[in-house]
Amino acid sequence: MTVPPTVLVADDDRSIRTVLTQALGRSGYQVRATGHAQTLWRWVEEGEGDLVITDVMMPDDNGLDLLPRIRRVRPALRVVVMSAQSTLTTAVKAAQRGAFEYLPKPFDLKDLLTVVDRALAAPAPIADLAAEPRDGEEKLPLIGRSPAMQEIYRTIARLTTTDLTVMIVGESGTGKELVARALHDYGRRRAAPFVAINMAAIPRDLIESELFGHERGSFTGAHNRTQGRFEQAAGGTLFLDEIGDMPAEAQTRLLRVLQEGEFTSVGGRAVVRANVRIVAATHRDLRAAIKAGTFREDLFYRLNVVPLRLPPLREREEDIPLLARHFLDRARESGLPAKALDAGAVYTLRRHAWPGNVRELENLMRRLAVLLPDDTITAEAVAAELSERPAPLAAESGADGPPALSASVEGYVRTLLAAGLPAQDIYDRVLGEVERPLIRLTLAATRGNQIKAAAMLGLNRNTLRKKIRDLEIPVVRGAG
Ligand SMILES: Nc1ncnc2c1ncn2[C@@H]1O[C@H](COP(=O)(O)OP(=O)(O)OP(=O)(O)O)[C@@H](O)[C@H]1O
Ligand SMILES: [Mg+2]
Repeated sequence: MTVPPTVLVADDDRSIRTVLTQALGRSGYQVRATGHAQTLWRWVEEGEGDLVITDVMMPDDNGLDLLPRIRRVRPALRVVVMSAQSTLTTAVKAAQRGAFEYLPKPFDLKDLLTVVDRALAAPAPIADLAAEPRDGEEKLPLIGRSPAMQEIYRTIARLTTTDLTVMIVGESGTGKELVARALHDYGRRRAAPFVAINMAAIPRDLIESELFGHERGSFTGAHNRTQGRFEQAAGGTLFLDEIGDMPAEAQTRLLRVLQEGEFTSVGGRAVVRANVRIVAATHRDLRAAIKAGTFREDLFYRLNVVPLRLPPLREREEDIPLLARHFLDRARESGLPAKALDAGAVYTLRRHAWPGNVRELENLMRRLAVLLPDDTITAEAVAAELSERPAPLAAESGADGPPALSASVEGYVRTLLAAGLPAQDIYDRVLGEVERPLIRLTLAATRGNQIKAAAMLGLNRNTLRKKIRDLEIPVVRGAG
């Protein structure tokens, strides 16, 4: 008979110790629990336990500070860190100090048990005391404690020890650039430059020379040899912002560089090795762009190694008060008068749909800090400022129910137009996008009965038949 593994639990909250002891016990583990970091340390030194689950803030010591010590004396002992501090810094420190996993509190017991099983099954970690990140209680780069942000922190933390390519997607103003910076600032290339290039902001025909540099005289106006962003970012991170707006030829060139790991400047001969970590971002739906033929699928797969989705602010409403106060603090630091939010103001802020996401909130708080004579911001003040601006299109708010069709069409058409590809059939393409699902789903609902489908659609039977043929819609009888 094999001895069941022993889990060491350290948390100063007795109820957590009890819950964990019971749950782990039921799963067949032996458990030793303590409320003190020092006791945990003694057990570890004495060679006890096969796995550690520790809190961060304990009365006598900090679980994160124990981590390097544990790794030194028992490199194979896995440590799971749980914390109610749930900031990016905690997640990053836990990852970089070698924690096996980091669980923000509160967590599901089921998740914890999965992590425990995984930790005990994983091969012994290689001792790799990677350089510590910038230390101290520095200002947090990212604010928010919603589950969605926790997930982002965990991903960023995991990525600090790799050079993997990251694709950040999210609506405008959700913090894509901030996340790209955090990936760099906490990553192992942080000593080298972070260089950003925005595909939407540079004239299309200059993008390649911006990326790869150009030789003197290689095109009209190229008076001097210039370094491209790839070269400027050598050793560091290259942030390809608004990648969905990249023109087709530049996409092809970029793909080749990523495949071959080297490039030549525009008009140049010398081959330069690319040494950058790529982080890309877009607010566009790249899968739709691929379908529409405006984004290369192979480039997409090159870039989408680690996808990171930043949720719109309306999906993380609980972060709004934190962010609002953060922006008021920032306004005060920049010399504006201090302001507080009353409960009504917080409520009103939470109710807003924020089509402009965090950027919209940031601008609003700044405006209120500048304009408002009173020290306290009320619901009325917020509402008045919010209604000053053109109301967001109802279609775009997406707050109550699915986004309106017109908004999807608008996004689709914009993607088509922005790609600047020669297209002579936009009208038919767009109508096809609408008609195809409309007819396909109606047919599915009538189990392929075209007479019923035509009636439901209010179309003549022959018209429906013709559309099915033209749009190449498969008709499956009896399906549905
Ligand atoms: N979680 C956050 N905590 C603090 N500030 C944030 C956060 N998210 C975004 N911001 C702030 O909101 C503003 C918009 O963020 P950012 O520029 O990163 O968004 P974006 O997704 O790149 O937007 P766009 O698609 O329009 O370029 C910035 O001033 C940024 O500092
Ligand atoms: Mg941006």
